[in-house]
Amino acid sequence: MRKPFIAGNWKMNTNCQSATDLASGLAAELSEVTTVDVAVCPPFVYLQSVAKALSSSNISMGAQDMYFEGNGAFTGEISTEMLKDVCCTYVLAGHSERRHVIGETDELINKKVKTAISGGLLPILCVGELLEQREANKTDEVVTEQLKKGLAGIDAEKVLAVTIAYEPVWAIGTGKTATSDQAQEVHAMIRKLLAEMYDEKIASQLRIQYGGSAKPENTAELMARADVDGLLVGGAGLKVDSFSAMIKTIA
Ligand code: PGA
Repeated sequence: MRKPFIAGNWKMNTNCQSATDLASGLAAELSEVTTVDVAVCPPFVYLQSVAKALSSSNISMGAQDMYFEGNGAFTGEISTEMLKDVCCTYVLAGHSERRHVIGETDELINKKVKTAISGGLLPILCVGELLEQREANKTDEVVTEQLKKGLAGIDAEKVLAVTIAYEPVWAIGTGKTATSDQAQEVHAMIRKLLAEMYDEKIASQLRIQYGGSAKPENTAELMARADVDGLLVGGAGLKVDSFSAMIKTIA
C-alpha cells in the first residue's frame, strides 16, 4: 500500500512572517493527521524559520531546488548538505518552471536527482508535457523521455527514494486541472514504464503525485484514481484552509 503524499510548493511566494504563519497554521490544523505524508517546500531563505515552526509537527519540509556539487565556487547555488543542515527531507527536481523558465535540461536534473539520493534527501522528480505536446499526442513520448533521462543511472535500490510528480504544464497555475481520467492515464503509463525500467514490485511501491491546479474541490476525484498517490500543490498550498482541507479529504 502506498501512503498518500501531498506536498505544497510555495514557489517564489511568502515573506518571513507569512511563511512562518502558514507553517504554524498547518502544524496546528494537521496535528491529528497520520495517514498522509505531508511536506511543504518554502523558498530557501525561509527554510530555517519554517523548520522551527514545524519542529513539533508531523509535517516535513522540502526545498524547491538544489545543485549537484557538494560545495565550492558555485555562486547562488545550494547543496544537499546545506538543505539537510536546515532540516529538509525532500527536494523538488525538474519542476516545470525550472525546465521551461530557467532552462534546466534532463541531464542537469538527473545529476540533481542522483546527488540528492546519495546525500540523503528524497527527490520529487517532476515531469509533464506542454499543451502543444499534448495536442500533438506526444504526452507519453515526452514524459517517457523525461523519466528515462531523469532516472538514468539510478539503480533499483536507490530509486525507492524518489517520488514522481506528473504535472502537465498546461494545468500548472492555470486553474485548468487535468481530468482524473487524463491524470490516471498518464500515471498508469508512468507506472508501467517504471516496471519496465525496474520491476513490478518497485513500480508498485513508487509514489506518483499529480500536480496542476489541484485544489480542495478536485482532491477527492483525483485521489480516487488507482495510480494517483498524492498531489503536488502550488496555489492552493499557500493558504492554511485550502491546503489542510485537501489533506483532510485524503486522510
Ligand atoms: P498549481 O502549481 O497547483 O498552482 O497549479 C502546481 C505546481 O507547480 O507544482
